[in-house]
Amino acid sequence: MRIFVTGTAGFIGFHLAELLLQEGHEVAGFDGLTDYYEVSLKESRRAILNQHARFHDTVAMLEDKAVLHDAIVSFQPDMIVHLAAQAGVRYSLENPQAYISANVLGTFNVMEAAREVGVKHLVMASTSSVYGANTEMPFGEDQKVDHQLTIYAATKKATESMGHSWAHIHDLPTTMFRFFTVYGPWGRPDMAFFKFTRNILNGTPIDIYNQGQMARDFTYVVDLVRGIRGLMDAIPGGPETAVDGDSLSPAAPYRVVNIGNSTSVPLLDFIEAIEEACGTKAIRNYMPMQTGDVVATWADAGLLHRLTGYAPETDYRTGVAAFVDWYRDYYEL
Ligand SMILES: NC(=O)c1ccc[n+]([C@@H]2O[C@H](COP(=O)([O-])OP(=O)(O)OC[C@H]3O[C@@H](n4cnc5c(N)ncnc54)[C@H](O)[C@@H]3O)[C@@H](O)[C@H]2O)c1
Repeated sequence: MRIFVTGTAGFIGFHLAELLLQEGHEVAGFDGLTDYYEVSLKESRRAILNQHARFHDTVAMLEDKAVLHDAIVSFQPDMIVHLAAQAGVRYSLENPQAYISANVLGTFNVMEAAREVGVKHLVMASTSSVYGANTEMPFGEDQKVDHQLTIYAATKKATESMGHSWAHIHDLPTTMFRFFTVYGPWGRPDMAFFKFTRNILNGTPIDIYNQGQMARDFTYVVDLVRGIRGLMDAIPGGPETAVDGDSLSPAAPYRVVNIGNSTSVPLLDFIEAIEEACGTKAIRNYMPMQTGDVVATWADAGLLHRLTGYAPETDYRTGVAAFVDWYRDYYEL
């Protein structure tokens, strides 16, 4: 297949592109290498992908509609996987404009090009943050999601609605994934698991919000991209493509699917696993709850399993150990 992937210099896009290249596909990557976190890490991921002859790279912003359009139209992809975004819950309090620009306008530009090329399947990343203030656990795709707590989550909910309308108007098969706290090698330096590891190894304190009384459905990145890969082949269509408890729209070839581990791990247990892998204890700085944060996430990943036969399974201790190994190796510690 020919697959166009946005966000390939990013954490998840890099892992997905590697998997697709290993499977023998032709992959076009697109990434603006934004400086939201260390660009050198993005350059390192990009350099690895560029070693493959079947990887074609464009460095540009999603907002640069003409460049994005030309990259997609000239590549003539069978599928588009849209992962590039301004990510991060906390930064959306500081710089909300970046989220409107990348996530709303940028996603619209991807959708326009997808329609023009007539791809078989457009798949795009959303987030567990769209569940916002919901408290019924685990989070299922059939829940109402109207109470987002940050502009990040709100822009992702907006892309879900935009994707649905586009799928309806243009009969464009579209799947939205809701990812739950992804961690693992080549991870994101702005995320807690990365900062905890960095500070524990440096001997500097770690900030633990809500006095540590939080829980997350941590998803190991290798599991996550296998889930994405499976769903790429589960193309939504008419009612005949529905499975039990499906989120398939009655009005469009469109569905939303959670990709999570189906386990909610207490944050303090996750920190202990990092301490164990680092072989040293953290200096803990307990803090109050941050605005926009949610206390817990927990995915119902049953629909992913029914659609693909796949369920993420990496235990968090195994995943954390793999991340810390990578961290030491990458930073030559
Ligand atoms: N990592 C997680 O835990 C998580 C959880 C839920 C959802 N997501 C979603 O998954 C997707 C991938 O996230 P990630 O963790 O790999 O993040 P990432 O920041 O590592 O990757 C995103 C990539 O997109 C690029 N980018 C950002 N804005 C751009 C723009 N305007 N134009 C072009 N390129 C741009 C960045 O340079 C970056 O390389 C995002 O859509 C994110 O919202 C991630």
